[in-house]
Amino acid sequence: MTLHNILSHNSQNYDPEVKVFSSTIQMMGSRLNVYCYFVDGMLIDTGPQRMEKEISEFCLLHRPDKIIHTHYHEDHTGNTAYLTAKFQIPAYIHSESLHICQVKGEIPFYRRAFWGNRKEFPAEALPNFVENEHSRWEVIHTPGHTSDHVVFLDEDKGRLFSGDLFLHDKTRIVRRHENIPRLMESLALLLKKNFDTVYCAHAGVVNQGYRLIERKLHYLEDLQGQILTLTQKGLDAKAITRKLFPQRPMITYFSFGQFSAYHLVRSFIDD
Ligand SMILES: [Fe+2]
Repeated sequence: MTLHNILSHNSQNYDPEVKVFSSTIQMMGSRLNVYCYFVDGMLIDTGPQRMEKEISEFCLLHRPDKIIHTHYHEDHTGNTAYLTAKFQIPAYIHSESLHICQVKGEIPFYRRAFWGNRKEFPAEALPNFVENEHSRWEVIHTPGHTSDHVVFLDEDKGRLFSGDLFLHDKTRIVRRHENIPRLMESLALLLKKNFDTVYCAHAGVVNQGYRLIERKLHYLEDLQGQILTLTQKGLDAKAITRKLFPQRPMITYFSFGQFSAYHLVRSFIDD
């Protein structure tokens, strides 16, 4: 029995300048889509190692001259070692995680089983702007999901490559080390910018992305208010989680609680 299964793989084309890589992994009742993007010579994130063959075919088609990363997680950097060697191209990531990329990933079992591992790869620090032949991208530090997280913004064309900043407008589960108040600051920072289409690493191409990021921030502000009220009534994080998020998704069991609503609630209380 294979534990994981790549369900589909295709490259769709919305904005003709942006080439979209998409693939889906299913494992033990959990299913996740992964999107990587190619625009003006650059590949944004490389997907998990399980998708090595598919992303390699995508790159053979589009021939990137550089790889830029939104953050160090293995579903965004899993094929960087392979692709930098195969295509002899440089890779960039936020300076904070350069040391992480220099060694093989130390990844918890549930994530390794789902995505595969990440080999070490050579990387350079992202500059403040990434300039290509036909476009210029502002690199904006947006911590919260991870502390090294960045997004790439082209205000002239209203395009935002958002990595794992957006994901969903009504977040119900997060990873253990996510800092939700910091994530909210990052969302508020982005809402001062001009963009419309959001290219998300797991939700795909999101039209009216500005409005949805605004909606996500409002949802989190509302949730923060509810959690504060319940805390003042004497409830702890576990009791608040049971009250606000009574249903546990499969991934919470599968990740041994590392990916859960509890961490969302706890982050509002502790961070
Ligand atoms: Fe991530």
